[in-house]
Amino acid sequence: MRKLFWTMLMMPVMALAGNVKSPSGNIELKFSVDDAGRPTYEMSFKGRDVVRPSHLGLELAKDKHASKGYRETDLLKGFVLEDEKVSTFDETWKPVWGETATIRNHYNELAVTLKQTVEVGKYTGDGTNLGLALVPQVRTIIIRFRVYDDGIGFRYEFPQQEELNYFLIQEERTEFAMAGDHTAWWLPGDYDTQEQETQESKLSEIRARMAKAVNWDNSSVAVFSPTGVQTSLQMKSSDGLYINIHEAACADYATMHLELVDAQTKALTTRLSGGSNAYTPNPKEASPDFELPKPFTFVSHLTPDATGLKGAMQTPCETPWRTVMVSDDARDMLSSNLILNLNEPCKLEDTSWIHPTKYCGVWWEMIVGKSSWHYTDDVPSVKLSTFNYQRSTPHGRHAANNEKVKRYIDFAAKNGLDEVLVEGWNIGWEDWANMWKRDVFDFVTPYPDFDIKMLNDYAHSKGVKLLMHHETSSSSQNYERHIKEAYELMNRYGYDAVKTGYVGDIIPRGDHHYSQSMNNHYLYVVKEAAKHHIMVNAHEATRPTGLCRTYPNLVGNESARGTEYEAFGGSRPDHTCILPFTRLQGGPMDYTPGIFVTKLSEWSDNTSWARITIAGSLALYLTMYSPLQMAADLPEHYEKFDDAFQFIRDVACDWDDSRYLEAEPADYITVARKAKGTDNWFIGGKCDENGHTAVVKLDFLDKGRKYDCTIYADAKDAHYETNPQAYIITKKVVKAGQTLNIKEAPGGGFAVSLIAK
Ligand code: NOJ
Ligand code: CA
Repeated sequence: MRKLFWTMLMMPVMALAGNVKSPSGNIELKFSVDDAGRPTYEMSFKGRDVVRPSHLGLELAKDKHASKGYRETDLLKGFVLEDEKVSTFDETWKPVWGETATIRNHYNELAVTLKQTVEVGKYTGDGTNLGLALVPQVRTIIIRFRVYDDGIGFRYEFPQQEELNYFLIQEERTEFAMAGDHTAWWLPGDYDTQEQETQESKLSEIRARMAKAVNWDNSSVAVFSPTGVQTSLQMKSSDGLYINIHEAACADYATMHLELVDAQTKALTTRLSGGSNAYTPNPKEASPDFELPKPFTFVSHLTPDATGLKGAMQTPCETPWRTVMVSDDARDMLSSNLILNLNEPCKLEDTSWIHPTKYCGVWWEMIVGKSSWHYTDDVPSVKLSTFNYQRSTPHGRHAANNEKVKRYIDFAAKNGLDEVLVEGWNIGWEDWANMWKRDVFDFVTPYPDFDIKMLNDYAHSKGVKLLMHHETSSSSQNYERHIKEAYELMNRYGYDAVKTGYVGDIIPRGDHHYSQSMNNHYLYVVKEAAKHHIMVNAHEATRPTGLCRTYPNLVGNESARGTEYEAFGGSRPDHTCILPFTRLQGGPMDYTPGIFVTKLSEWSDNTSWARITIAGSLALYLTMYSPLQMAADLPEHYEKFDDAFQFIRDVACDWDDSRYLEAEPADYITVARKAKGTDNWFIGGKCDENGHTAVVKLDFLDKGRKYDCTIYADAKDAHYETNPQAYIITKKVVKAGQTLNIKEAPGGGFAVSLIAK
């Protein structure tokens, strides 16, 4: 991490026992241990309840390997408060890439040490006569709360100790008791996918809406409960509080979902049975120490691995941070750095090779179905070790061929794009998906019509790089076996970024995309890539939790419904006005924006269409923050609308400053950003199906300075369905203090560039 400057303060501050406020005093966190010895917390914002008293703890599984006991007692109750430490921290750090040049990490902390005395059954005897005796043991955990002005984070820490050395997690039981029947923007809780459309409903309506929410197609689906939802979960209370629950720094731990207790809840679901779209709740008896909380309480629900368990832990260790953000201004949800701040500083010494990237790719035409990733139709399946591609008959629709890739390289070079993604360059795509085939790709052998050396040399001669693609088909086992060779190949030919993918069910079979073991896999990939100076953009991987602060070569993730769904039936126009509140909390998304020819039937057999106007598409380069931005449509489509494409040529993807000017979840977002190392600003506004008039006060510009302003707006009669390609480009000179009123069409938006004179 480039730490140009930082200040740090770590000193005790006065506080009431178990009670700490945020630096401004707006947020208050109270901790207590109740009569049953259950750790309990509550949280308020400007005196209003955000989280009502909620219990904390974990259920542990019987550990057949535990040498000293036959059953671990749960970490749910029987705790006494042994110690508490309050401190404050204030540091300003500099991200390698980001929305702002510096980030302030300022919080007050409360760390409580809790002791639990439990009677644990221990085997006794001399080897011939086994007996069992109950022996008292004292175990220690620490719960650490960090209270910021925009929310809180807390986690469980398990110091190393004889009494809690190795343990297995049956379930984490962290509660978030909401103060009312909030409106929520939610995805069905699922162990394998997060590509659904977001549902908007009251908490009390989640159960009734679940059947509709899970009625969709995806290659790997595992829904766990009729009231299970994913994080990041954005909510709004009836009195205007914006509340967001997510997690930070999820490493060596399973991804957390939330299960809502509503008026009908009799028991919480803890096991998944079956793996179809239909959820099949199979309530397992919860620990007798776990009492069902009151309605409108979310309880954490971790993703299991193939054994059904949720975590295998060795002390010393800790859980990820559980986060609750709150504000009475929706814009604060978008500008918050809470998740990044709760992650550890950068662990890479040299980050000079990590750079923001604009790219195009041999991609959209395959997604749309016009061409294909695979090369031959000769056989129904291939065995990589024996199949001879040189002797096979090409079917003629293979997109990643020399000629086409060169065309994309020329396009990138001409338009200042940094890289060209090429999917389908490597052998194995004939039967790649959903076959539970372990040895699906080798990641090093190109198809006969893809000359890897020639194409990389050609690209480099034009100042462009190729962007590697490694679809793993979720065979994580196979990817780990080949990763070294695969990255060596990339180094040899000069690739510096890889897009990975995890389509289909996980191999090892029975495991899930968001389990502890798979989360370890994704991080392993990022760390291995860093050793080879490779940036990673992982699709279908676990949802981000800010680990990109620690490993900034993790430049992107999909982990939500991306632009590809515009070719699979489409996404609602408000989708991109929700994602920044939800999916983007944990890190940037490779949303792959920029579709200009939205009616796919104009150039393919695909009847799907993108629910967005061209001006709206331009806005996404601002509103969907990412250091990695794709221009996803075909070169010939951009050539047709070259004046609008100028904005994609010009727009930056790394920023010194960002100002969220207007925001309301699922309605509209307007943001202004200052391009890194320049005095130029870019503004983007995106709205839902109802349209919006943005009022953009240019008070962030340098006083007294003039700017060449180009506005790319929806034309008067533009509409995402009936007239998506109607835009007007206006140029003028502006200065600080002026206001731009810009009309956004239904499903539209606008983009502005402000070049300092
Ligand atoms: C799904 C990814 O999201 C998409 O971008 C990619 O093209 C396909 N998998 C094939 O890997
Ligand atoms: Ca995907």
